[in-house]
Order: sequence, then structure tokens, then C-alpha cells
Amino acid sequence: MHRFSYRQLVIATAFLGVLAAGALVLGLVADVVELVAVALFLGPAAAAVYVTLQVRRVRQLTVRLERQLSDQLTDVVTTVRQSADVTDVARTLRELVVGEHRRTVTASEQIGTEIKNTVRTRGDYVASREFAELEAFVDLRQFLSPRAPMPPTRGWAASPDVLRTLVELILDHRPDLVVECGTGASSIWIGYILERLGHGKLVSLEHDEGFAAISSSQVRRHGLSNVIEIRLAPLEPWAGPGGSWHWYSLDILENLHDVGLVFVDGPPGGTQRHARYPAVPVLLAYCTTDAVFVLDDANREDEREIGERWLAEFPELRRCRLRHEKGCDVFVRTAD
Ligand SMILES: C[S@@+](CC[C@H](N)C(=O)[O-])C[C@H]1O[C@@H](n2cnc3c(N)ncnc32)[C@H](O)[C@@H]1O
Repeated sequence: MHRFSYRQLVIATAFLGVLAAGALVLGLVADVVELVAVALFLGPAAAAVYVTLQVRRVRQLTVRLERQLSDQLTDVVTTVRQSADVTDVARTLRELVVGEHRRTVTASEQIGTEIKNTVRTRGDYVASREFAELEAFVDLRQFLSPRAPMPPTRGWAASPDVLRTLVELILDHRPDLVVECGTGASSIWIGYILERLGHGKLVSLEHDEGFAAISSSQVRRHGLSNVIEIRLAPLEPWAGPGGSWHWYSLDILENLHDVGLVFVDGPPGGTQRHARYPAVPVLLAYCTTDAVFVLDDANREDEREIGERWLAEFPELRRCRLRHEKGCDVFVRTAD
């Protein structure tokens, strides 16, 4: 019979020791004392079998947990899809993870709370914005009485909040001449307030033939031809400080003078970067000393940069920022 040398026995024992330690490190065999007892009293072979069985058990457990988690996640997704209330989602998340997943529960609850707060804050914001627009619109309709259906506001067109600001500025400043860059709904509202004031005219510049025609027919429908003139002004190259632009043809500006208010709502931002910048450097020469420039869409980065350039290049301008839906900056020309 083969006899093992002392060295071989040491190596075999060390090997089994490493196996047992490996099982411990896996951390998947729950009871350390149990494993040591098995290793000591049942011998190395039994220990090897024991370790193999435990590893198998852990593998099966892992597969079961994965399935369970997957099913529960499906439940969550279904709840999220069907739920009208964020609290349902939070509840399902809470039910999903229990016991050893306590940390996940807490995290899920935090996420649920965050979602809830965000939805509420956003909802409040949207509701207050909608109310502000509705309030401005009702105010406009009560103050001015259109003789025909009005073109839609918002979106491409000016929003009720900026239209009301235009009405207020026109009432305060009583301009002889208003110039508008970009025609549309605003032209009609400006026409009505000038008509009511019994003072002043509007020249509305439009580069697009189609929109110029639509606006002209609106002007006729509302019977405002005596106060509004839509001027088709194709975009042409204009060279200014530090660059060149495509802006309304200068030919159509010739007989303008004493412009008291300019509404800068065109050309469309998509035509080029800082598309509306030329309004001040070109039109200031036609304006009164206390003229007002109203820049719509001032929340956009492009318009913000245009405003900064105007302030830097024309020290006689003072800016007032209005928290309107799309942002609105009012620049007033001052004596200094
Ligand atoms: C911001 S919009 C002008 C809006 C105008 N001041 C108003 O309040 O309705 C600028 C340009 O968009 C174009 N535009 C006007 N109405 C449009 C519409 N319904 N859809 C797409 N573009 C439009 C015109 O060329 C106009 O000069």
C-alpha cells in the first residue's frame, strides 16, 4: 500500500485548507463554525463535498433572487405605466424591497419623494404660467374689442404677456411711429391700441412674402389699414461692427422718422446667429431720444447675447427685464 510522505500530507492539508478558506471568502456559506466542524471532524473529502453542495445552493439562490427581482421590477414598470399618482409608484417600490434590501427601500423612497416634489413644483410653475397668460389675454380682450377673430398668440406669435406690455408701453409713451420687426398677431394688437389711442401708426417689417400677405389680409379684415402698414422687406446683407448679417432691406426704411417704439420679434432666430442684433444699430438713427426697444424671446441664449451687445455698444440704453413666458427685455433710450 502506498504510503504518503509527510510533505505530501502537508501539501494535501494545505490544499484542503485553501478550499475551505475559499468557501468562507465567498461569504455564501452562512455558518463558519459549521464549516470548521465539518472540516475537522468529517475529514477533508466530506468537507470538499460539503463545499461543493453549498456553492450549488448559493448559485440556485442567486438565480431565484434574480427571477424574483425581475418579476418585481416588471410590477413596478406596470404600476408606473398605469399609475396616475406618484404615490402608487412609491408604494410599489416600497413593497418591492424588504428585509436585507432595506437600503434600496430608502433610496427608492427618496427617489419617489423627489419625483413627487418635482412633479408638484413643475405643476405649480406651469399652472402659474398658464394663469398669467390667461390673465393677460382676458385683460387684452376686455381692454380692446377686436372686430374680427384674432390670430392665435403664443408659439410663433407673441404671447399675451408681451402683448399686454406693448399695450402698456404704447399707452405710456404715445409714440408717433411704432416699428415692428416680424409681422403676425402682434401687428393687429398694436394696431388696435393705436386706433384706440387715436395717435400713432405701425410699420411692420416682414421678410417673408407669404406671411406679409397673411398679415395684410388680417389688417384689412380688422379694418386697421389706416393705422398699420405691412412692408415686405426681403433680408439683405448688412455689415455692422464685427460681422455681417442678413437683415431687412434698408431701402424700405427711407421715410421712417420719430420712431418711438420698436418691437424686435424678427427675423426668425433660425436665419443666423444673433439674427435680431441689427435692429438697434440700424433703427436707432430713425428713433426719438426716448425711444423704447422691446426684445421678445429674451430667455433664449441668442437674444440674451444680443441684449448684452446692445448694452455694451449703446450706453444710452437702459434695460428692464420682464419675467414673461418667453422672456422680454425692454430697452429705454435715455439722454446720457
Ligand atoms: C416670431 S415670428 C413674428 C411674430 C409676430 N411678431 C407675432 O407676434 O405674431 C417671426 C417670423 O416668423 C414668421 N412667422 C409668422 N407667423 C408664423 C407662423 N404661424 N409659422 C411660422 N412662421 C411664422 C414670420 O416670417 C415672422 O416674421
